[in-house]
Amino acid sequence: MSSHGDPIPMTARQGGPLRGEALVPGDKSISHRALILGAMAVGETKISGLLEGQDVLDTGRAMEAFGAEVVNHGGGNWSVHGVGVGGFGEPDQVIDCGNSGTGVRLIMGAAATTDIAVTYTGDASLNSRPMGRVTDPLALFGTRAVGRAGGRLPMTLLGAKEPTPVRYVVPVPSAQVKSAVLLAGLNAPGETVVIEQEATRDHTERMLAGFGAEVSVEDTDEGRVITLKGQPELRPQTIAVPRDPSSAAFPVCAALLVEGSDVLVPNIGLNPTRAGLFYTLQEMGADLTFENMREEGGEPVADLRARYSPAMKGINVPPERAASMIDEYPVLSVVAAFAEGQTVMTGVNELRVKESDRIDAMAQGLRAAGVEVDEGEDWWTVTGRGFGQVAGGITAESRLDHRIAMSFLILGLASNAPVSVDDGGPIATSFPIFEDLMADLGAQIERTAR
Ligand code: S3P
Repeated sequence: MSSHGDPIPMTARQGGPLRGEALVPGDKSISHRALILGAMAVGETKISGLLEGQDVLDTGRAMEAFGAEVVNHGGGNWSVHGVGVGGFGEPDQVIDCGNSGTGVRLIMGAAATTDIAVTYTGDASLNSRPMGRVTDPLALFGTRAVGRAGGRLPMTLLGAKEPTPVRYVVPVPSAQVKSAVLLAGLNAPGETVVIEQEATRDHTERMLAGFGAEVSVEDTDEGRVITLKGQPELRPQTIAVPRDPSSAAFPVCAALLVEGSDVLVPNIGLNPTRAGLFYTLQEMGADLTFENMREEGGEPVADLRARYSPAMKGINVPPERAASMIDEYPVLSVVAAFAEGQTVMTGVNELRVKESDRIDAMAQGLRAAGVEVDEGEDWWTVTGRGFGQVAGGITAESRLDHRIAMSFLILGLASNAPVSVDDGGPIATSFPIFEDLMADLGAQIERTAR
């Protein structure tokens, strides 16, 4: 089932080379944060390049339900008239975050220290994902959560009446958990401290500082210690959202795999907390270069150029790199299927609790397509068959997971027989222009009759 409507089966097959420029949409993580912090500032935040995927649209609607004014000016330009820290009003409707773990977890944090009751829900994928990882630290502020067994949505959070600041060591590498605690800390008096043992994407810390919050980050023996001074007045910002490296991954990997390809993916953020896939591909021997390296809005940015790379080899992906490429393992496993030798991916338990169990989803489809995959709870290996040697000829389940759907379609562009997915609908959550963008490059991806 598609998250919003009937399933949309799609099929990808081999065709000519992929060529041209791929202008991928705005960064999903940054788009969510821009809307949420915009709603917590006093006055009007202007956002350009916002990702208009369903996940982000759902977050925008949630901000309206709390009392912010969210306006679409067209062409990716949006504004948010915020209500200030502690200014969220009690929504008179259930907050439906659709497919988005980032949306619901960040919003739960942002609303947790205001004295309001909020009920959250999502689609079948989101309602099966663990929320205890967020409600546990929020309870330390004084927030109460009432939900289904196992900490699943739908769930009601009763915001803390008199929040106390917390010091919290994040037990899993998760930017969503870190961000939920920091956003909750905004409306608690005193200092909230979050400690992460592995660095995860740091967009929340960066953006909080941009909005005028007092936030400091220190690398210590204990880990990365982030300290936030509560109850600031956030100043509205003008935010240009960079293009999403996690979306760039799909045209980049497609170009590496399809004979004769040469694709430019301009203006991609290479924030070290996000860029792990690109370094991994280079280590595998990909012809992937960073052109026009520059700084924009305090972030390293480059144009990525990817060319057909039939000499790639499997590698051991270091576990300490996992957080910086956590969303990219599915498409990496597709590249690994064509490389020579084994690709070993360790320290990746988090893949089991994404929009789907991503190790299981990819392993089942890849095996059916003729590729050897081994797995344990927190590791998996893909033994590459080599270029021209991947059979394909399958219909994979996308399991309400956009990245699984797109990864199998990339597989189909280079495997010997076409690859279908049962539902490409979820792609719209993060990459609504995927089909058009890939078609413009010359990819053979089409909707299939049911
Ligand atoms: C995200 C954090 C990651 C990532 C997700 C986006 C974010 O999730 O998988 O797509 O924007 O904070 P976790 O925090 O669960 O690792």
